[in-house]
Amino acid sequence: MDQDAAKKAAGTYAAGLVDSHMRIGLGTGSTTAYALEAIGRRVREDGLRVEGVPTSYAAERLARRYGIPLTSLDDGPHLDLALDGADEVSPDLDLIKGRGAAHSREKVVAAQAERFVVLADPTKQVSRLGTSKPVPVEVLPMAASAVLDRLESLGAVPTLRMGQAKDGPVVTDQGFWVVDAAFEDGLDAAGVVANALDGCPGVLDHGLFLGLATQGVVGQPDGSVELLGG
Ligand code: A5P
Repeated sequence: MDQDAAKKAAGTYAAGLVDSHMRIGLGTGSTTAYALEAIGRRVREDGLRVEGVPTSYAAERLARRYGIPLTSLDDGPHLDLALDGADEVSPDLDLIKGRGAAHSREKVVAAQAERFVVLADPTKQVSRLGTSKPVPVEVLPMAASAVLDRLESLGAVPTLRMGQAKDGPVVTDQGFWVVDAAFEDGLDAAGVVANALDGCPGVLDHGLFLGLATQGVVGQPDGSVELLGG
């Protein structure tokens, strides 16, 4: 499957959901990058007037490159629309996010948006969360061992995420670390795990996005899209 063509189809379609005067959440990752590119083109060529709140340094840099005006939640916490990718998408539009370690900011932005549209390709669709990807958990470095223990008690096999072009752990945009929690048979009760992590000292946030997405756009390799929900 041409996964990249499918990502491009989802991103390009999503850019068409943006109207002038919207304040939009700008997600992180390779699928949303296609949306940012297409939104930037509409800003330059069609006079689209929008302001975007980036979910990471990566999204901020892409938005600047494509000429999308930036704002922040401090200038107004309400967003009309948030666009973001996902690592897994369930039939109910529950998600696992955070492969790019941006999930904590992504969740804040998604929660502030009237509509949160998730952009995916068919490889992201799962019947049950946790079957193909671990749940990323952003942790305070001094709490990492305690959180690893807590995750084991929840039935996960947790691993501290290590840098690829850096020695030592991945350090997030907030200066935190990331633990990837794999659940061998997937998540039977994602809500129970989410609640436990929400209440775990030292956890900034985790990649379970339950009940947040209002619509899904699944790009297909032939350039078409399948719409989910809303
Ligand atoms: C960033 O931390 C992630 O939540 C991404 O949004 C997610 O991993 C999707 O990324 P791709 O669009 O690159 O697959």
